[in-house]
Amino acid sequence: MRIDNGMKYLITGHKGQLGRLLYDYPSGCEHIGVDLPEHDITNAQAVADLVLGQQPQAVINAAAFTNVDAAEANPDLAYAVNTHAVGHLARACHRLDIPLVHISTNEVFDGSGDKPYDEWDQPRALSTYARSKQAGETAARFYHDRVIVVRIAWLFAPGGDNFPAKIVAAADSHGALRVVDDEFGNPTYAPHLTSALFTLLDRGAPPGIYHLTNDGMCSRYEFACEVLRQSGREHIPVTPIAHTEWQRPSQPPLRALLANRAAAALGITLPSWQEAVAEWVKLEKQKAKGKS
Ligand SMILES: NC(=O)c1ccc[n+]([C@@H]2O[C@H](COP(=O)([O-])OP(=O)(O)OC[C@H]3O[C@@H](n4cnc5c(N)ncnc54)[C@H](OP(=O)(O)O)[C@@H]3O)[C@@H](O)[C@H]2O)c1
Repeated sequence: MRIDNGMKYLITGHKGQLGRLLYDYPSGCEHIGVDLPEHDITNAQAVADLVLGQQPQAVINAAAFTNVDAAEANPDLAYAVNTHAVGHLARACHRLDIPLVHISTNEVFDGSGDKPYDEWDQPRALSTYARSKQAGETAARFYHDRVIVVRIAWLFAPGGDNFPAKIVAAADSHGALRVVDDEFGNPTYAPHLTSALFTLLDRGAPPGIYHLTNDGMCSRYEFACEVLRQSGREHIPVTPIAHTEWQRPSQPPLRALLANRAAAALGITLPSWQEAVAEWVKLEKQKAKGKS
């Protein structure tokens, strides 16, 4: 994206599910995108050269090692990308005195609480991925005082590799599904999140921690049923199962729900998760039509 007003944002992980939308968003500024293999944010010197060379107005870090199960077998890489590289970005942003918007996760919480977590609640991550993300939040805020940490959950974007896409694909190939009904979360639709992130920047939001997800919560089972219903697949039988019947190398927190207090106080909220599913389904249908 090229816009000639001299203002630019640096977006890391711009080929990823969220990064692609951030990169393409019409913010009114030029967007510089960096991702593997050309740019590796685990290289401290390369990060410093990049940020100081580009002189952006802000950095948005959407790069991460996001394969939660693979992180159990690759802790060094998970910490290199999700913790130490965030520190490199924060140090570079500190030298320019520019904001760093860093994306984090609901999984920093253990999910044992009986109500949604506020931004100021104490994290207690359970998995390697989640611990590396929790440490990333700390590293960013240790090195720099202008960090906006944005925790999100259950991210999905049009064309992405995500839960609704997997549900639709499994429904079409198997004709029946089993879905966990005792894990709860807040779906976060990447286009809604993207617009909220740029609004935070535009409004000069104070540094700190923000929770940004679509409004409302659901179980994996309810999320799947809504996707099937809205995409015209309500005839597909879905059996609710306990998380213990769906074995994974890493166990996600069962109720790591996020309450949006800080952004809401600035007037920034996202539509309901059901509206988000409707928009996702509409775009997926348009894409399928375009292909046929
Ligand atoms: N997906 C979710 O459900 C979810 C939930 C909560 C929070 N989040 C957070 O949201 C953010 C965005 O997630 P996402 O789903 O958009 O992730 P994604 O699709 O996996 O995108 C991450 C991007 O970062 C790149 N990357 C990885 N290591 C890098 C490195 N060393 N240097 C530069 N780029 C690197 C990846 O490249 P490769 O693909 O080549 O590795 C990928 O293009 C992450 O911070 C994630 O932790 C995601």
